[in-house]
Amino acid sequence: MWPPLSPGAPRADRLARHADLAVSLESLLADEEDWIAAMATVACELHHAFAAWHWTGFYRAVTADLLVVGPYQGGHGCLRIPFGQGVCGAAARTRATQLVPDVHAFPGHIACASSTNSEVVVPVLRPDGSVLAVLDVDSDLPAAFDEADVAALETLCASLGRRYAGARP
Ligand code: SME
Repeated sequence: MWPPLSPGAPRADRLARHADLAVSLESLLADEEDWIAAMATVACELHHAFAAWHWTGFYRAVTADLLVVGPYQGGHGCLRIPFGQGVCGAAARTRATQLVPDVHAFPGHIACASSTNSEVVVPVLRPDGSVLAVLDVDSDLPAAFDEADVAALETLCASLGRRYAGARP
């Protein structure tokens, strides 16, 4: 663990933190076959790496059109999100990352916390393309996430999707 990176840290510092996280998570999960343990560990490590990441966690795709909350860090998270609702639902439905600099401008955004201003949601896809889960990160700051975060989180989620493809969601 390291001190959380301050909001507004230079891009180079954020890239370095993502690189450190990738190494750390690879090592922490190296022998871990349990998907819940993996999600809990990822949520914890990501959440404490960036001070602006106020809610960090997973929603699991328990059926073809329903997400149920999984391991997370932060305040209260909504328990169930249909694929047809919210930013998380959009990520699951489209199987594409949703980068939302202003949640108030996103039609149907679900405000689990009224303090949230920006959000990024990345799907965790199995190799066959089906959705295992989504990784949701919310911030109280506007436009807290950018392409560097998206690239790092997509690499991480691709790895998780390959690795835990056979897990019960
Ligand atoms: N904002 C999300 C809901 C999940 S939480 O904020 C933890 C959404 O619109 O999907």
